[in-house]
Amino acid sequence: MGSPELVQLERRGDVAVVRIDHPPVNALAEPVRSALASALGRLGADPEVRAVVITGSGRTFAAGADIRELEAAVLDHAVEPPDFHGLLQLVEDFAQPIVIALNGTALGGGLELAMAGHYRLADPEARLGLPEVNLGIIPGAEGTQRLTRLVGVAKALEMVVGGKPIGAEDACRAGLVDALLDGDVIERAVVFARDAARRGAPHPRARERTEKLGDAASNGPLFAAAREQARKTRAHQTAPLAAIQAVAAAATLPFDEGCRTERALALGCVRSEQARAMLHGFLAERSAAKLPGLAGSGTPAAIEQVAILGAGTMGASIAMACANAGLRVSLSDGSTEALTRGFSTIQRSYQSSVDRGRLTAAAAAERFARIRSVSGYEGCASADLVIEAVYENMTIKKEVFGEIGRRARPGAILASNTSTLDIDQLGAVSGVPESVIGLHFFSPAHVMRLVEIVRGVATGKGVVAAALQFAKRLSKVGVVVRNAPGFVGNRIMFPYMYEAQFLAEEGAPPEQVDQVLTDFGMAMGIFAVDDMGGLDVAWRVRKELRQFEGEDGRKPLVADLLVELGRLGQKVRKGWYRYGEDRKPIPDPEVIALVESVARANRIERRSISREEILERTIYALVNEGARVLGEGVARRAADIDVIYLTGYGFPAFRGGPLYYADSVGLGKIHERLLALERDHGPRFEPAPLLARLAGEGSSFREHDRRLEAAEVLP
Ligand code: COA
Repeated sequence: MGSPELVQLERRGDVAVVRIDHPPVNALAEPVRSALASALGRLGADPEVRAVVITGSGRTFAAGADIRELEAAVLDHAVEPPDFHGLLQLVEDFAQPIVIALNGTALGGGLELAMAGHYRLADPEARLGLPEVNLGIIPGAEGTQRLTRLVGVAKALEMVVGGKPIGAEDACRAGLVDALLDGDVIERAVVFARDAARRGAPHPRARERTEKLGDAASNGPLFAAAREQARKTRAHQTAPLAAIQAVAAAATLPFDEGCRTERALALGCVRSEQARAMLHGFLAERSAAKLPGLAGSGTPAAIEQVAILGAGTMGASIAMACANAGLRVSLSDGSTEALTRGFSTIQRSYQSSVDRGRLTAAAAAERFARIRSVSGYEGCASADLVIEAVYENMTIKKEVFGEIGRRARPGAILASNTSTLDIDQLGAVSGVPESVIGLHFFSPAHVMRLVEIVRGVATGKGVVAAALQFAKRLSKVGVVVRNAPGFVGNRIMFPYMYEAQFLAEEGAPPEQVDQVLTDFGMAMGIFAVDDMGGLDVAWRVRKELRQFEGEDGRKPLVADLLVELGRLGQKVRKGWYRYGEDRKPIPDPEVIALVESVARANRIERRSISREEILERTIYALVNEGARVLGEGVARRAADIDVIYLTGYGFPAFRGGPLYYADSVGLGKIHERLLALERDHGPRFEPAPLLARLAGEGSSFREHDRRLEAAEVLP
């Protein structure tokens, strides 16, 4: 028996309206499913009910199965995943017409429920999707079977492999939705339902549809293309391939048999290590947004107007990120030329979104119009948030913070987009250190989801809370970290990057190292990353942050020489690699020769290096520094470091982040290998104290986070 309040029942004449009411996102937890089933049971027995409308309360129809129920099944193989079958059968076989009124988002199990209804009507703003692959699983409630029947193989593959929700209009064109409803969705759905009842049975059942299933000849190329897409965009992930198999089952098997195939494939995914890791990533993102220490800091100030100082690559893309979220932006730069260049970059970027069909011309124009060009500090006085994005140099930034401290209105938040510099120094010169915070966006800021929110010693709690809310408003993931050299992301990257360079000096060419890393699942190899970011940028950081140099006496020897040779990376088409028109890295014999001669001159013995050694030395360097950052309290949770690496540094989602990965290898084993690496390669591999302690206790980073959860402290 379900709790009746999870589902609201209302009668509008001869039509019953069933409303799922399970905030915040109407997740279809077991009690909700049974409340729905019992409501339908009662309505089915009521002769006065001619039709039923099922809808959701709030902005969501239903966001899917309950993620906590899913988690239970992923973590404990004795627990069965949520079972929707009985409910879906009840809906599809209901004697009276069931009209699904999609008042908002329908995802996963929410859409699977909707597809069992006889008719689907949607608010034009509703979004529909089967995003399960993002969690390392596939739809397991007959979704792949009904979706393929409703929209055909091509669209079904696009939705289950891509995992991206589609808009209501698109869904309507594809046949997933019967009509769009403006205005009062429920009232319109009631009228529609009454009409359907009047027309009488039979009411369409998705499971009986076959006309869009195609045949082997037409489907073959679609499946091949989907496998190729999965290989490119979700390399090494198993769920997308399982999803393709499930769609293939829909296209070739009778419905019930297809459902059995889907269920078996889904169960395989639920029991997989990848699902565990990806679910961890999902939950870690949500937990990053919550800092218990912030409770009681009141409702954070809303940010509507943003002043951005500096119209370079970062400033311009931050302006777009803000404009895309509906904020009003003023953009300025000390140089008129730079400002003009910034605006043309923005215009080009919007135009390219229009050209690629990602944005309508009207929407692009509206966003562009939200960004106002102003001169100097003019935008500061009226802004709720000022973001400094000038050249990465302490003297210049201090000057800017002195100015904005004087000009911004009291209570405004003053942020620096620095990727490395000391927020406390900027706070001190501003005169209002409690209002100063770091907002470290990643390039390009209108695309990358991560924002490191850097809390200085004096930063007010309310300012931290407002920054988290601001990141959410931008549809980004804000992770609060403490002010320390390189913060979290870059601090951890340096030992990893250095180790890759040491390996090159010892005999593993950049392309070999990068290949091992991309085979591991990294979005890019670290040499390619260095080239993309610019070798001059890494050089500047090395100079600013001297502590990154030669912690155990060993310094990378080649990177500085490449900078001196003008090999600054992708922007000049040569760095660690050469680049042609297509910007793909090409191994460069000149670099190899340079590395060899440097190694010779420094008596570094060259040898052939195994894949295992490359992987261990690079990834364990990353893990060990992560443990240090965590032990020092620069990051609050291991999961926060995972989120930073998953969303900002291309760490493979299916491995859950560097510290989750370390847990999955086992901290005992990592500790033992670090000791061996320390013996062979020097003290830079000395295990971080926290890692050594957790390994000694037979514990894990996950357990460390759990213990911290109760502690109400900020990072
Ligand atoms: N089950 C249980 N809780 C869920 C949930 C689900 N399927 N989806 C989201 N939530 C919770 C979140 O954990 C969060 O809880 P919190 O406030 O306690 O942290 C809350 O709902 C809001 O989610 P959030 O992601 O912060 O809000 P949003 O407005 O940015 O996004 C969604 C809403 C629904 C688009 C997004 O949460 C999402 O994609 N959910 C997963 C959907 C999914 O994969 N479903 C299929 C597999 S079960």
